[in-house]
Amino acid sequence: MNGRLITLEGGEGAGKSSVLDALRERLASRGIDVVVTREPGGTAFGEAARALMLDPAHAGLCAESELLLVFAARAQHVRERIAPALARGQWVLSDRYTDASYAYQGGGRGQPLERIAALEAWAAPVRADLTLLLDLPIEQGLARAGARGPRDRIEAEGAAFFERVRGTYRQRAAQEPQRFRSIDASQPLEAVRAAACAELDAFLDSAGVKQ
Ligand code: TMP
Repeated sequence: MNGRLITLEGGEGAGKSSVLDALRERLASRGIDVVVTREPGGTAFGEAARALMLDPAHAGLCAESELLLVFAARAQHVRERIAPALARGQWVLSDRYTDASYAYQGGGRGQPLERIAALEAWAAPVRADLTLLLDLPIEQGLARAGARGPRDRIEAEGAAFFERVRGTYRQRAAQEPQRFRSIDASQPLEAVRAAACAELDAFLDSAGVKQ
């Protein structure tokens, strides 16, 4: 049987890394062979693209280049890691995937969503089975992210950019309620982790994975 693709999304400072660890542990404890990966990244080429993407030295990168860069990384990621793992029956847990391009390059940068959908259909045809969205108010997320140290090229954007990112994520979650589970990430981190694990458990139950 093919594996499943689970993706984790959210704005800056939403607690993604900690939730990712909790999800990884929960999948392993339920006997699932899981590959944990991230975007941009997940392959040698993808990690190089990520470094370019986040480097403040490329502050002048145009929106078109940024969109093509994330999809170049993703096309490689799908072919080199995601699709082969799923075909082997492994599950894949990815820290961000295509929804991030709709949110950041679409909502944030104003690239037409139909263009992103066309790129997705061509370059990244594997769809997520479950997407957990960590949602929290922008001010709270930026305050948490700011406490982590110097800002990368994307984190250097202003609040209006991140409001559009958040709005697009929420819009997508509302449009695809069967795939998305939205989690209130303004709660204390332990509660966010617990809520994410509860959603994962419900998905595993519906997928027929034994306790
Ligand atoms: P992260 O480690 O916080 O997830 O950093 C990745 C950054 O890259 C984050 O600011 C979101 C951004 N990004 C995009 O703009 N588009 C994409 O398609 C992806 C996957 C990430």
